Amino acid sequence: MAYELLTLERRDDGVAVVTLTNGKVNPLSRELLDELRRAAEELADDLPGAVVITGGDRIFAAGADIAQFGGPDEAAVIGPMFHDTIGAFAALPRFVIAAVAGYALGGGCELALGCDYRIASDRAVFAQPEILLGIIPGGGGTQRLARVVGASRAKEMCLTGRQVKADEALRIGLADEVVAPEDLHDRALALAAEVATGALLAQAITKRLIDEGLSGSLDDGLAMEREGFVEVFRTEDSQIGVKSFLEHGPGKAEFTGA
Ligand code: COA
Repeated sequence: MAYELLTLERRDDGVAVVTLTNGKVNPLSRELLDELRRAAEELADDLPGAVVITGGDRIFAAGADIAQFGGPDEAAVIGPMFHDTIGAFAALPRFVIAAVAGYALGGGCELALGCDYRIASDRAVFAQPEILLGIIPGGGGTQRLARVVGASRAKEMCLTGRQVKADEALRIGLADEVVAPEDLHDRALALAAEVATGALLAQAITKRLIDEGLSGSLDDGLAMEREGFVEVFRTEDSQIGVKSFLEHGPGKAEFTGA
């Protein structure tokens, strides 16, 4: 599929890398959101082992394309586009890692929040600065940020628009790892490659249970886990993994992804 504002690379190690290439600041214009959604659909149709989403060295993504804002009519189109696009990556039944080298602002922060895991360079900066435009986050920020950093910190960030640097992002759980800028892509690719050779169906069940479980009650989540625990034993990889452990000890299984 042809893309103009991003690249989609499928590597031999099973990792797919999506790189935003929309000019210097990577605004998440309608056109880029459309391409991102198509890329997520392409990945869903032919699943890789894991996904890395990254942007520019200085700017991961500067958020929604502010030049495309207007009034409520435009917002009624742009908001669902953000939700659909970020939701499409969030729903991929694979580990999706954001590799954030620089500014992840507004929709850029929300795209990173839609990923399962965020690796940041020590130059990364996260913010939900919409309030400084007199508006609110529309790409999931009020919901996903609060689930990641807690309600009070999310409110403080969204109500001030304050920029959160990498060390603080790590401390509050917004970044899961912080590495030197020159190590960012290698680290993200190495983690993705490690996961890509794992028990992919078990990973998919795990991701679904954690995401869906967090939206409901503990009891409902535990009920879902009981079902998932039965479901996972129907996979070939569960037989391979258990047999390998009993015969050769831990960590030696070679999974097929089936
Ligand atoms: N949408 C549209 N254009 C944007 C943009 C955005 N989200 N972010 C930056 N730009 C444009 C600027 O208007 C500027 O355009 P110009 O060259 O025609 O004047 C160009 O990108 C470079 O931006 P500039 O601010 O001059 O660069 P910088 O390196 O000093 O700062 C940012 C880069 C990303 C830190 C800064 O532009 C910024 O804070 N952007 C806004 C982020 C934001 O509020 N996002 C939430 C949107 S809801």
